[in-house]
Amino acid sequence: MDGSIGTPVVRRDALAKVTGVAHYAADFPHANTAYAALTLSKVARGRITRLDTASAEAVEGVQMVLTHRSLNEDLGEETFVMKGGHMQSSFLPLTSDEIHYAGQIVSLIIADTQEAAEQAARLVEIDYASETANAALDAPGRKLDPMDESTIEVGDAEAAFAAAPVKIDATYYTPAQHHNPIELYAASVAWVDGKLHVNLPSQWVMGTRAGLAKVFDIPVDDVVVESPYVGGAFGGKASILPHVVLVAMAARRLGRPVKLVVSREAMFTVGSFRPAAESRVRLAATKDGKLTAVMHDEIGQSAAIDHVSFMGMEATSKMYASPNILMHGATVATDVNTPGFMRAPAEAPSFFGFESAMDELAEQLGIDPIELRIMNEPERDPVSGLPWSSRSLVPCFRRGAEIFGWNRRSPEPCSMIASDGALVGYGCATATYPSAMAPSSARVRIAADGSCHVFCAAHDVGTGAYTVLGQVAADVLGIEDSEIRVEMGHSRHPSGPVSGGSITTGSAGSAVHKAALAVRERLFATVAGDQDRTGMTIADRHVVLPDGSRRAIRDILAGLPGGVIEEQADWKPDDMDEKTMRHGLSGGMAFAGPVGSSHVSFSFGAQFAEVRIDPLLRTIKVARMVGVFACGRIINPRTARSNLIGGMIWGASSALLEETQVDRPRARFANTDLASYHIAANADIGEVVCEMLDEDDPVVNAIGAKAVGEVGIVGMPAAIANAIYHATGKRIRRTPIRIEDIL
Ligand code: MOS
Repeated sequence: MDGSIGTPVVRRDALAKVTGVAHYAADFPHANTAYAALTLSKVARGRITRLDTASAEAVEGVQMVLTHRSLNEDLGEETFVMKGGHMQSSFLPLTSDEIHYAGQIVSLIIADTQEAAEQAARLVEIDYASETANAALDAPGRKLDPMDESTIEVGDAEAAFAAAPVKIDATYYTPAQHHNPIELYAASVAWVDGKLHVNLPSQWVMGTRAGLAKVFDIPVDDVVVESPYVGGAFGGKASILPHVVLVAMAARRLGRPVKLVVSREAMFTVGSFRPAAESRVRLAATKDGKLTAVMHDEIGQSAAIDHVSFMGMEATSKMYASPNILMHGATVATDVNTPGFMRAPAEAPSFFGFESAMDELAEQLGIDPIELRIMNEPERDPVSGLPWSSRSLVPCFRRGAEIFGWNRRSPEPCSMIASDGALVGYGCATATYPSAMAPSSARVRIAADGSCHVFCAAHDVGTGAYTVLGQVAADVLGIEDSEIRVEMGHSRHPSGPVSGGSITTGSAGSAVHKAALAVRERLFATVAGDQDRTGMTIADRHVVLPDGSRRAIRDILAGLPGGVIEEQADWKPDDMDEKTMRHGLSGGMAFAGPVGSSHVSFSFGAQFAEVRIDPLLRTIKVARMVGVFACGRIINPRTARSNLIGGMIWGASSALLEETQVDRPRARFANTDLASYHIAANADIGEVVCEMLDEDDPVVNAIGAKAVGEVGIVGMPAAIANAIYHATGKRIRRTPIRIEDIL
């Protein structure tokens, strides 16, 4: 059937999106809506000493000016997402006169029009007593806060390193970055009869519902969270941003719906960001290239108001076989808004360093960088000793090398010159991403009128989930995916997981699979009656009996009361207990894996880059990127490819362009718009080739689908840095890599 698992179905939401039919959060019209605007702190640390809202209140149409003086509501207990709650930060603005970071919300204005709200926001007069602050990870005199719980230790790495004949010891730096989804943060909030209705772009409607119910101390059933379409999220929309709570408070107090669309500039501080990170990588090897010690010390930027860390060592410790492994993490508190998830939060920064170091080691050994990785391929996870659920890294490298034409590479740096004089460099790197899983429910309903519905409170954050979940059901039910309507992004649906950590397809997909199987079983049972139903199959809208005779599904349904079969299923990862499942299904964070009791599950990829560098101007062009990935069973090669090449392109953007610059004296982000926060445009990106290897993973989950969404970004920055080294002989250990670095 068209549209079953493995076919490259075109996204089912594409037409709605390109025709404007798709409603994003800010598009939802609540009658009599009032509009909100924000005033942000100009200083990074200190206290408000004077606050005058008279001019703001005098603007025609202004309904309310909320500040720490006027906002004094009792709120229920709710915590930071990294402590088991749902809030993006444990700090809620407008709760005191203290300033913890530049760009902190210091006033929320509500007015009849957007224009009045914005005008008033500019007229709020504030004086500050400001203190010295720091927003940079690498400021002199920094204090390291060690995270002993992140230590990973196998064997005696220090001793092995000291004794090794070949070693690398280098430190790599990646800056703060911001997600910059094209859809701005927004919240449209209405209280109707004491019930809270929230439209916002969300990666986690169930978590948002649970969290808001706690904040406002109302039953979860009195909270509705709606987010059918999301215009880019990347981790930034996976928890409740503080402004959502503030807008909801304002709407309740005003007795009127309120809508806030956060400006691009404010996005940099009212949400989260990818914190700056530093990786010291030490690798030791025998002369013939066997790793004897792998060491990785990571230092991450954290916030004074919240301890946050995204350490990549869980992944880097599993990359290569070594009898000795030692990894440590530490953080540095800075005066910034709470950092958060951003595509491959732990892996993307740390793999830049780790995979650059592998390239440096290969160079020193005089061994081809791909061969070095292959000769250190671990049969099992070198940390836990458990087998992989599947690991096809070596086939990825072999196939990638073939597509890329790696054999045309001459190993010496600066040895390949194009006919136009450009310096040519080839580089490669490993990518990986954990395949964790979360519990999920789903409901599947088929009816005699030919309709088929799938309901799940998961999300399509632009990734293709609407399409992919339909394909999973289509496959089980023997109907075309175009006949299935998938409904997601609404808290009224059966519980779905946070769409983060690349878990949606594997987790929500497994729930849809289970519910569809239950529907199919009931179809079989209806046909069989008292008879044995073994040997029945389903195909082309018919139940097929062992003797080859067929019964149309519609006819079977027409004979049932109501003409409908509907089944809801709760799915959990094998390793998860019932209690944790219940916690997850009620909107709590509940993950299993990537290290289970019997296996370790990661997606893998081999990534390649060709750079061309102008010999005089030193401009860097990524002429080609190749990625070959093994992510278990690919439900839809078209949408999977889009995720993977999106990651590769972002990786190139990260390697060469992206940096949230810190105005150090003022401790604030300096380039808070899309004119000065550079991201890759079409002209920056050359050829992009992506292939997915078939991989049968029978243990990872019910449908064998591993993580796809994030792995594509992970190896790209190192592959590009390695290619730049190959082209120029210059090893740049800091991104973004700029012209001035390779002059
Ligand atoms: Mo993604 S950073 O796990 O939402």
